[in-house]
Amino acid sequence: MRQVNLGMIGGGTVGSGVFHALQVNGDLLASRIGVKVAVRKVAVKALDEPRPYEIPASYLTTDWQRVVSDPQVDILTELVGGTTLARTMTMAALKLGKPVITANKALLSAHGEALFAAARRYGANLYYEASVCAGIPIIKSLREAFVGNRITHLYGIVNGTCNYILTRMKLAGVDFATALQEAQAHGYAEAEPSLDIDGHDALHKVGILASLAHGFWVNPKDIYVEGLRAITPTDIQFATQLGYTIKLLGIIKTGAGGRRTEGRGQQRKNGARIQVSVYPTLIPNTHVLASVNDVFNAVFVRGDIVGDTLFYGRGAGKDATASAVLGDLADAALDLKFGTQHRVPPFVPHERDGAVAPIAEVRSRYFVRLKVEDVPGTLARIARIFGDARIGISSVIQPAGHQGASVPLILMLHDAPNGAVSQALKRIGQLPVVKAAPVMIRVEDFD
Ligand SMILES: NC(=O)c1ccc[n+]([C@@H]2O[C@H](COP(=O)([O-])OP(=O)(O)OC[C@H]3O[C@@H](n4cnc5c(N)ncnc54)[C@H](OP(=O)(O)O)[C@@H]3O)[C@@H](O)[C@H]2O)c1
Repeated sequence: MRQVNLGMIGGGTVGSGVFHALQVNGDLLASRIGVKVAVRKVAVKALDEPRPYEIPASYLTTDWQRVVSDPQVDILTELVGGTTLARTMTMAALKLGKPVITANKALLSAHGEALFAAARRYGANLYYEASVCAGIPIIKSLREAFVGNRITHLYGIVNGTCNYILTRMKLAGVDFATALQEAQAHGYAEAEPSLDIDGHDALHKVGILASLAHGFWVNPKDIYVEGLRAITPTDIQFATQLGYTIKLLGIIKTGAGGRRTEGRGQQRKNGARIQVSVYPTLIPNTHVLASVNDVFNAVFVRGDIVGDTLFYGRGAGKDATASAVLGDLADAALDLKFGTQHRVPPFVPHERDGAVAPIAEVRSRYFVRLKVEDVPGTLARIARIFGDARIGISSVIQPAGHQGASVPLILMLHDAPNGAVSQALKRIGQLPVVKAAPVMIRVEDFD
């Protein structure tokens, strides 16, 4: 049986998970693909660092460059993280024509285009299934299984930490700070949690999915992002009362703000405009994504031919992520065996004039929470501002308070552009009867 040799850079949570998975299922993998994958070396930062799964000392080295340049090494994994050294490591391997498998969404988000170009130039491939939703095979599905579809809608719960926090807020009735502390105690959130709770980790993943689904590289700067910090138990409570669940949702949708037409003559651009965003979203309780709880991830994909599909699973963790790396390893080994390194290129730009629609032009429905003084005429003043902006109110919840006291006022708004709603809320926030900055959460109907 043919053997390929694997050089690993990084032997931490994911790296040691991959090493362990190969010990457990390496023979099974070999019998399925007809190629034996043998680990040759594992580069780490410090030899004596404790690891989730032990890696025998004979495999370890602190010299990643020797692992990359070892002529016996056929395939490399970059399981280090970060964007600077990881880029150097990945580039060094690609320049030698060696395929690289990475789990690093931050690296791809920041340097994807340059890395894909290098892969093309040096005739090597770059595999990255583990970079989005770990155990869920969403990259392979978009690139291969759905290759004959236009992806009209993609909705993703792609950050397990945020999903855990929102699940605890809804089911245990705790506030955001308590739910975050619980997530940290379980090891689901970092001590410095902003990458997760401010939506940036989800943004990296959504950018990769949007690029694959729509065939142009989505600049992370064009993705609108809002995290969880503004969500309170009051929002959860009223959303529940109205039949909704709040989820941090990545949304990739066609038809946002029409087509883009710019420039003249040969320079004329006429590409599709898509919504690419990450924000807390009210989801009807009847939708399947509303029941995705705890640290689980899910991606809902609608293709014009296939219709609706759903992917569900663990979006992080040493074993789920290792499963995705092993899938890539099988592809890389088979591509080497059959000399088909370019059968599925890492990224094919085929819609170069596509663009991300500015959030101001994106339309949705809205849940608005205001803190108002309980005096006659308050609602009328607010309704007038929405009316002037041609924004319709579909329902109002106004708990009774004491005359003059501050009470929450919850409004559901009809479909309107984000820009118009933001401007109206700015005016409403300036009314003397409004006692705190208005909070707006978008509602998704999945039409
Ligand atoms: N953890 C997850 O659940 C998960 C899920 C999906 C994707 N990912 C991605 O997977 C990647 C790795 O994450 P992780 O959680 O496994 O991180 P980790 O536990 O911190 O492991 C990082 C590894 O890189 C090694 N390393 C650091 N600097 C090095 C250097 N200069 N030379 C050689 N090795 C070096 C570390 O060595 P030492 O062991 O000596 O410290 C460690 O083994 C990241 O891109 C992450 O975003 C992680």
